[in-house]
Amino acid sequence: MSGRFELVSVLACPRCDHAPLTAADGRHRCDACRIDFPTLDGIPWLFAEPSASLGEWRSRADFTMQTLAHEQRRLQAAASAGDVSDLTRRRLTKHAEATRAHAEHLGTLLAPLKLEPLTASFATNLAFRTRVPSDQGLMKYAYNIHRDWSWGKDENEASFAIVREALAGASPGKTLVLGAGAGRLAYDVHTRTDSEATVVVDFNPFLLFLARRITTGETVELYEFPLAPRSIDDHAVLRTLEAEQPCRDGLHYVLADAHRPPFVKGGFDTVLTPWLVDILPERFGTLCKRINALLSDGGRWINFGSLSFHVGDPALQYSKEECAEIIAETGFDAPVFSETSMPYLCSPASRHGRHEQVLGWTADKQRDVPKAPRHKALPDWLVLGKDPVPLLDSFHLTAESTRVRAYILSLIDGRRSLDDIVAVFDQQKLMTHEEAEATIRELLIRLYESSRRR
Ligand SMILES: C[S@@+](CC[C@H](N)C(=O)[O-])C[C@H]1O[C@@H](n2cnc3c(N)ncnc32)[C@H](O)[C@@H]1O
Repeated sequence: MSGRFELVSVLACPRCDHAPLTAADGRHRCDACRIDFPTLDGIPWLFAEPSASLGEWRSRADFTMQTLAHEQRRLQAAASAGDVSDLTRRRLTKHAEATRAHAEHLGTLLAPLKLEPLTASFATNLAFRTRVPSDQGLMKYAYNIHRDWSWGKDENEASFAIVREALAGASPGKTLVLGAGAGRLAYDVHTRTDSEATVVVDFNPFLLFLARRITTGETVELYEFPLAPRSIDDHAVLRTLEAEQPCRDGLHYVLADAHRPPFVKGGFDTVLTPWLVDILPERFGTLCKRINALLSDGGRWINFGSLSFHVGDPALQYSKEECAEIIAETGFDAPVFSETSMPYLCSPASRHGRHEQVLGWTADKQRDVPKAPRHKALPDWLVLGKDPVPLLDSFHLTAESTRVRAYILSLIDGRRSLDDIVAVFDQQKLMTHEEAEATIRELLIRLYESSRRR
């Protein structure tokens, strides 16, 4: 069955939704937009503005490499200081060497990001209203990689069990895994069910480059730097990442933004969203409409993870009951919920693992609903630059506190004491003496503490 599926049969243009795309010379072309989407490391790069998003991820890769080089220098300098014990020197030296080797591994894995020439500017990306959120660094989900492909058997089994139970013996058919991370669940679904084809989507190229290599049978070595190392040897642990066996045909990777899924309407029988719905900045109801559009008639949406919505607006931080209502309003049958207790990122080298009460649901598509509007990551006043910049509450608060901080910082000259700085505030009657003392001490404590943190 799997041999018959062609990825291009479900692809559509992420800019204008035109389908089919034309596949030739390792590229996909939208004949309506007249734009080519490249393939990087064997994975179609289907972002609405392919060149500009490549520029964004490339600069994040450069930033990662610079951070590692800086960290290596810091570790080496600390190891060479005269006042450290032999044991500390051993730890620092090993950590510095692991950081150097890690940078080398990453350099190789991320090399495909450098192969494609950049033809678009940041401005073009803005025009398409697409943007990789600032908090999404290339390494943000690095622990998931080690869990997926090294030590995480129990966690991976628990995740797959949720999907298997949701399927209740049915075939998942054409399956889409959105926000697939390092790809383990997609691999398990594809190797352990009779899925017709499994399409794996994430917007982080590091995760998908690795997933593709591993699931096609490569063994990759990568350092893990645990958050809370158990012992001196656990500060940097070289892991061997591999799959039990290369995946059968039909597992396809696509680099794309879940807000602009580059797929035809009704292209999938099952959509999986593991640990995704609450981290997207978009309204939950809009995401539900997008998932509805991706599903065939009677198709099923299987979701699990947390419901800890990251959006700032408290009205959008929905409960399970509100989610159920929104799911039903957006063309699904009432969702069937499940709760599973499972370990989460419990690395054997770290004391930081936790247990999660994972909420899952399965919702069958009952009817089509009006299409979700095209996603705009940024508002007009930011993109077009003509409308007034709104005085949002958080801007106002930031402006106030920045003014006070900047003034306090300007008074630090290596000679004034805390009391002297408070005296300046007293003279200028900027605050009461008590307020000034508390504010200035608090800021200095924070600055001092942050100067001593990693
Ligand atoms: C919390 S992680 C979960 C990863 C994986 N599903 C798992 O369970 O291990 C969220 C994943 O969603 C991806 N992601 C976040 N926003 C995305 C977006 N707009 N489009 C595509 N992927 C996104 C991240 O890169 C990350 O891999």
